[in-house]
Amino acid sequence: MHNLVNRHHLNMPKLGLGTWPMVGEECTRAVALALEVGYRHIDTAAGYNNEDAVGNALVQSSVPREQIHVTSKVWWDKLAPQDMRASFDNTLKALQSDYVDLFMIHWPGKDWDVAKAIETLVSFKEDGRARNIGVANFPLPLLRKVVEEFGAPLSVLQVEYHVTLGQNALLDFVRQHDMALTAYSPIVRNKVSEMPVIRQIAEKHGVLPTQVALKWLLDQPNVAAIPKAASKENQLSNLASFKVELDDEDRAMIAALPKDQRMVSPPFAPQWDAPQR
Ligand SMILES: NC(=O)c1ccc[n+]([C@@H]2O[C@H](COP(=O)([O-])OP(=O)(O)OC[C@H]3O[C@@H](n4cnc5c(N)ncnc54)[C@H](OP(=O)(O)O)[C@@H]3O)[C@@H](O)[C@H]2O)c1
Repeated sequence: MHNLVNRHHLNMPKLGLGTWPMVGEECTRAVALALEVGYRHIDTAAGYNNEDAVGNALVQSSVPREQIHVTSKVWWDKLAPQDMRASFDNTLKALQSDYVDLFMIHWPGKDWDVAKAIETLVSFKEDGRARNIGVANFPLPLLRKVVEEFGAPLSVLQVEYHVTLGQNALLDFVRQHDMALTAYSPIVRNKVSEMPVIRQIAEKHGVLPTQVALKWLLDQPNVAAIPKAASKENQLSNLASFKVELDDEDRAMIAALPKDQRMVSPPFAPQWDAPQR
């Protein structure tokens, strides 16, 4: 498995398993299956109500915990330092682990003290319980403030990114700062299977549209992707996307697709950056 590494000791497989919206037994089963077939990167969050289910899969697995990269996140209404510390304690308890590989702020807060929240996040890295820290859904000005003004040692930014949503400004930023960008909704919740251009490229190579969409991401430096897949069939198919070989013509066709198709924008989302290529 290809890993993303950086100066903050990040060591994150480029392909991970997304777990939202699975909970309970379904989630435990999917994570256990994923570990069995070779996944070593699992994405969860307090907001998904499935950290306990992920934790059960981790402890039941024959794969040693230290070989698995686990990401979790704190919800946006728990960003006051006390609340964040309590949420992080719950995360570790639910995951049945004394550390998490990557801990992130899930969304920017509302009327929040950004400096205090970031200071608290950094303290989890300093005490070793979060091997790495990051943020999700931060627009560029806020990310810039946290990294350049506060000097927070962030390793990862997690945002929606796929063939029909451009993120070039954020990608430039993370590459400049030795960070990774984890793409969520990387197969556009399987809408790529209906996109004529992606289908055409897939047919040319004798592969699936989902595999084209994933390989397009995995080919990019500093980029990881976390497709959610419940079934063994889809998990294996997504893993096999590493074998797809896209050419310049394919990439030009994908580059010409609209790049402003955002899927995830809940009421508490920040003001997003302007659409980019
Ligand atoms: N940070 C954030 O705010 C945020 C927001 C959204 C998502 N996320 C994370 O990103 C993960 C993935 O994003 P997502 O769930 O929005 O979208 P996604 O991964 O693009 O799509 C998931 C959907 O695609 C289906 N699928 C997976 N592999 C397939 C295949 N090979 N062929 C056909 N269908 C396939 C899944 O069905 P089956 O399960 O039936 O296979 C599921 O319905 C989430 O699970 C979560 O961990 C983070």
